[in-house]
Amino acid sequence: MKPLIAANWKMNKDIKESVSLINKFEILIKNIKNVEIVVCPPFTSLNEVNKLIKGSNIDLGAQNMYFEEKGAFTGEISPLMLKDAGCEYVILGHSERRQCFNETNELINKKIKAALKNKLKPILCIGETLEQREKNETMKTIENQLINCLNNINEKGMKNISVAYEPVWAIGTGKNATPQQAEEVHKFIRKLLLKIYNKNIAENTRIIYGGSVKPSNIKELMKMENINGALVGGASLDAESFGELCNIK
Ligand code: 13P
Repeated sequence: MKPLIAANWKMNKDIKESVSLINKFEILIKNIKNVEIVVCPPFTSLNEVNKLIKGSNIDLGAQNMYFEEKGAFTGEISPLMLKDAGCEYVILGHSERRQCFNETNELINKKIKAALKNKLKPILCIGETLEQREKNETMKTIENQLINCLNNINEKGMKNISVAYEPVWAIGTGKNATPQQAEEVHKFIRKLLLKIYNKNIAENTRIIYGGSVKPSNIKELMKMENINGALVGGASLDAESFGELCNIK
C-alpha cells in the first residue's frame, strides 16, 4: 500500500507564507513517487496553493468542512466549495475540533457522508486523551470513535477513507507515541475494520499516525506493520523538515 504523508498546517500561514512554503517544498519532493503527499493549508490559502501544485505530485486537502452543501450556515465551508478550490482530501474529526468546537462522533459521521457524496476523501482522526490512556480506556475510546464516526458507511465509501490515529497527548507536545504504542492501536483499528467490514477493507485501509512526527522519528514509526503514513502538524510548517519526512524510503 502506498503510504500517505499529510501536512496539517492548522491555523498557520497567510497566503504569502503559504506560497513561499509550497514553492520551496515542491522542489524538495519533486522526484518522490512512492509516497502520496497531501498538504492541508487553511481555507484562505487553498486556491493559491492549488494553482501552484497543479501537475505536481502534491494533492490538496482541507482541515474541516460542514456537512450541508449550501445555505444559511454563517461561517461554514461546504464540500462543494472545497471541490471548487481543488481539494481531493479533507481532514475530519481532528481532536482540536472535538475539543475546541465540541464536535461529536455523530457530527463527524454526517461530515464523512457529505464528503464521500461529493467525492472528497476523508482523513478521519481518532485518538485518546492522556486521562483516557491513564485510565486504560484507550481501546474503548478508539472503538467508540471509529464505530460511531463510520456509522452506516459502506465498503464502497470506506475505500476512500483513511484513518489517522492521533493520541491527543502526543499532539504538539513533542512527545510522540513510541512505535510500539502506536502499532498496538493501529493493529486494533485494523481488527475493528475487519469486524465492521471485510478482509479487503481491513487490509487496504490506510491507517496513519499523527502526534509529534518529526524527521528524527518517522523512520522507526514507518517500520511498523500497520503504520501506513503520517499526519504531521508542526514539522510540516517548514519546507526542509516536511521534505525530509516525505523522503521516507
Ligand atoms: P503535531 O505534529 O504538531 O504534533 O500535530 C499533529 C497533528 O495534530 C496533525 O493533525
